[in-house]
Amino acid sequence: MTNPISGFSKLKKEEKIKWLSGTYLKDSENASHILQQYWNPDPALQQLHEEFTENTLSNYYLPFGVAPNFLINESLYAIPMAIEESSVIAAASKAAKFWGKRGGFKAEVLGTKKIGQVHFMYTGDKVKLQEFFLQVKPVLLEAVEPLVKNMKKRGGGVLDIELRDKTDLLPDYYQLHCTFETKDSMGANFINSCLERFAETLKLAATNYDDFNSAEKEMEIVMSILSNFVPECLVRAEVSCPVEELSDHGMSGEAFAAKFVRALKIAEVEPYRAVTHNKGIMNGIDAVVLATGNDFRAVEAGIHAYASREGQYTSLTHAEVSNDQFRFWMEIPLALGTVGGLTGLHPLSKIALEILQKPSAENLMKIVAVAGLAQNFAAVKSLITTGIQQGHMKMHLMNILNQLEASPEEKESLVKHFKKHNVSHSAVEEALQNIRS
Ligand code: MEV
Repeated sequence: MTNPISGFSKLKKEEKIKWLSGTYLKDSENASHILQQYWNPDPALQQLHEEFTENTLSNYYLPFGVAPNFLINESLYAIPMAIEESSVIAAASKAAKFWGKRGGFKAEVLGTKKIGQVHFMYTGDKVKLQEFFLQVKPVLLEAVEPLVKNMKKRGGGVLDIELRDKTDLLPDYYQLHCTFETKDSMGANFINSCLERFAETLKLAATNYDDFNSAEKEMEIVMSILSNFVPECLVRAEVSCPVEELSDHGMSGEAFAAKFVRALKIAEVEPYRAVTHNKGIMNGIDAVVLATGNDFRAVEAGIHAYASREGQYTSLTHAEVSNDQFRFWMEIPLALGTVGGLTGLHPLSKIALEILQKPSAENLMKIVAVAGLAQNFAAVKSLITTGIQQGHMKMHLMNILNQLEASPEEKESLVKHFKKHNVSHSAVEEALQNIRS
C-alpha cells in the first residue's frame, strides 16, 4: 500500500513523473522516457497544452484525420475527425461519397435555446413566492447586465427566467429555470456566471422582502448550474433518394430499404440495440466535436438524455419508405461553440475550424449531425449486408500488425495479402509466421 502524497500539484512536471515512476511504474526509466517522448519539442506549445488542465505529465495523442466530400446543403465539406477507432473515418468517407451522388445531406437548425437553473429550497407561502418572483425578476435581469453586455452585442443574452414549482417532486424545491441564447459560443461560462449572479441577487432580495416571514426569508440556494439537457438546441440532418438507388450486395434497392427500415425499427423498440446503434452515431459526432475543441462529455450526456426523453432509451435515427422514396433522418440536441473555450486555443481545433470554413455554431451543429447520420448509415448498411467485421477487421489490420511488431516490408506484403483474405488476429499471426519462416 502506497502512502498519500501531499502538495503533488505544486511539484514540477519532472518531479511528478519521478514520483509516479517510483511509486506505481515497474520500468520507471522506460515509463518516463515514453511520457517525455510525447512532450512537444516547442516549449511554448507544450506549456499551452499543460495549462489546459492540472497535473499534466504529457500529451495524449489521437489521430486527427479528415473525411472529405461531404455535400451538406449544397456545399462541400471535408470534415475533420479526432478518433482512434480504425474504421470510423473510412466509413464516414464512404457514406459521404454514397450520398454525394444522391443529392447530399440536408441539415437544419431547429432551435438554439440553452438552459440553466438555480435550484433552491423555500419553506412558506407559494403565493407570496410567486409575488416576490414577479417583483424580483427585473432586478435579476438588471443584476446580470454587466455580464450580458458583450453577449447582447453578438445577438445573445438571457431570454427568460421562470419560477418553477417542483414541490411535487421534492418538498420545498423550486427553481429559477432560465433560458439563454449564446450565439457562437457554447456558453457554459456565460450561463454559469449569470446563474450565480441570479442566485446571489435572489437570496439578498428574499432577505430584504418585507412580506416574507423569517422562514421564508431563509430560502436556501442549493446550486446554480447550466443544464446539459438542451432539447431546444436542436438540429436535424436528413438524406433521401429513390429506393432503386439503394441496391447493394445483390440486394434490390427495395429489399435493402425495407431491411434498413427494419433494422432501425429494432433500434427504436429494443434498448440493447438502441445503445449500440446510437454508439455508432456517436463515433461520428464525438470525432468532430473533439477535433473542433468542443465538450464531448456535454454532448454525450445531452444526446443520451434526449434518446430517453420518452421514458425508454431509443434510436436517435429513423427511416421510412414512402412512395418509393427512402428517407433517413435524425434530430439531436447539440450545444456547440466555434468561439471561446478550447476552440480558439488548441492549435488543431483552430485548423479543424478553418478546414470547415470557420463555421458559425449553427453550421457546426449541422456538420456534426451529418457526421453522426453518415456514420450510422455506414454501420447499418454493413450490418444488414456483409456484417461489420469484414470492413472493420480490414481497417484494424494495421493495429494487429503493429501489435505483432511487423516490419515495414512485412506490413506491405501482408496488406497486399489481406486484400484477398479475411482478417482475423490468428490469420494475421499465421501469415506473418509464414513470411518469417
Ligand atoms: C462500432 O464502433 C459501432 C457499431 O457497433 C454501430 C452499430 O452497431 O450500429 C458498428
